[in-house]
Amino acid sequence: MGEAQQQLQHCDISSDFAHITDFVFVIFGGAGDLSLRKLLPTLFSMHLRGNLPENFEIIGFGRQDLTDETYRNLVEESIEASDEVGTPEASQVENFLSHISFSYGHFEQKEDYNQLEKLVRKKSGEYEMDVLYYLSIPSALYEQVISQIADSELPTSGEGSRIIIEKPFGKNLATALELNRTVNRAFREDQVFRMDHYLGKETVQNITFFRFANSFFEPLWNNNFIDSVQITVAEDIGVSRRGRFYEKTGVIRDIFQNHMLQILSLIAMEPPAGFNAKQVRDEKVKVLRSLRSTAYQNVADVSVAGQYSGGQLHGEQVKSYREETNVDPESSMPTFFAAKLHVDNWRWAGVPFYVRTGKRLPRRVTEVVIRFNQPPLKLFRDDCTPLDASRLVLTIQPEEQISFRLGVKYPESSNLIVPVNMDFKYSDYFDRTYVSAYERLLRDCLAGDQSLFVRQDGVEAAWEFADPFVSRWEECNCVKFYPPGSWGPQEAEDFIKKDGRTWTTE
Ligand code: BG6
Repeated sequence: MGEAQQQLQHCDISSDFAHITDFVFVIFGGAGDLSLRKLLPTLFSMHLRGNLPENFEIIGFGRQDLTDETYRNLVEESIEASDEVGTPEASQVENFLSHISFSYGHFEQKEDYNQLEKLVRKKSGEYEMDVLYYLSIPSALYEQVISQIADSELPTSGEGSRIIIEKPFGKNLATALELNRTVNRAFREDQVFRMDHYLGKETVQNITFFRFANSFFEPLWNNNFIDSVQITVAEDIGVSRRGRFYEKTGVIRDIFQNHMLQILSLIAMEPPAGFNAKQVRDEKVKVLRSLRSTAYQNVADVSVAGQYSGGQLHGEQVKSYREETNVDPESSMPTFFAAKLHVDNWRWAGVPFYVRTGKRLPRRVTEVVIRFNQPPLKLFRDDCTPLDASRLVLTIQPEEQISFRLGVKYPESSNLIVPVNMDFKYSDYFDRTYVSAYERLLRDCLAGDQSLFVRQDGVEAAWEFADPFVSRWEECNCVKFYPPGSWGPQEAEDFIKKDGRTWTTE
């Protein structure tokens, strides 16, 4: 056990060890791809780790012609195919399967929800257990299913009833408001778990801990000491089989509006008064509301959108976005987005936040770079080369690490300063294998802890901010093309260079 682990202290964030009470977990779309590939193997892995109570029931609801038995066979196959669970013993799988059943039904059929209700009632011992609804269905069906739940006898008002929705939460502000209205017909906000898997990542959670558990950062964490902030979410993969989804989504909706703005709000937020879900989410929403809004006609002044063309990446020939399956050969959907944002509040006035994200970039990396100001006086050099400013880099993936880039004297030189890194790698200190972000979030909704979920006002504020970017870049038919393996179109480089800065990735 690492030293850091031995020194674990008790603190008021208890969700890691939260108690999960008996539950019935209803999966709408229970036999769909997402459920079988991800959700059910994750639930199984939680069961294996002893993170589920003895009494739990999982009910898959869907229009496939399945019985309990044939559904269980599918779940068994998906567990075998999953690399998340290793090689469990047959008895462990059998035990898990004994908690699973299937309810045949169509999402639009009222009677099918009545059938489901009977089963839930039976499995929960007349509602003695928490009842959770998980929407593992295309987002276009969210409202239909939630309305049906609202109109049925399914339990929705008790404290133990919860609904879990994965992003996207709407496709713009108007549809997000509509969706929230529908959700509120059946559920109160404290029962709604909007899942953005980035918030379940250990290093994303650590942004808050790092900032507020170390007293020497906060005094520097403002416009007196910080020159600029960069956030990069880069992927080397293309859209692969998700062309149809991506044609309706694009990178701004897919990554920027949610994952990136969530990271930004954790970096920029004020210290909360405490660490409960309300206190943290209040502060995050304040940041989103402080973002300087951009009018449609000014979008191109503060951002760049691009789309990958075809070419070589990691030694292989890859298709252009327009050649991907189910993509319009003339599509102008952005797969790359870079922008300069401002958080207009006392702390951050004048500090630019540069963000960039895209597919088919050189490698997978998610990183936040905090660049500090140059020292006020250049004592050590008499040439014109600017000093490499100190920076702090929070790497969220693929390696989970935090590094400082500092300037030190080159040995035996009289005035040569060279940059060095001070690194902290999670893997050097902690020997436990982390649960996936997804599992962490599932565990929290089963335990009823909303801290790592997005609140209604947060979703709306993020859409309000992102909407002009989405519409302008989708409508203008003017994305810039970039070769796979590059850091986006040349315009993205020029855009930051104009400010006398460059993009940084470690
Ligand atoms: C999802 C997006 O939310 O996040 C995908 O829909 C993207 O397009 C994925 O590939 C990236 O997640 P991660 O955890 O691999 O960074």
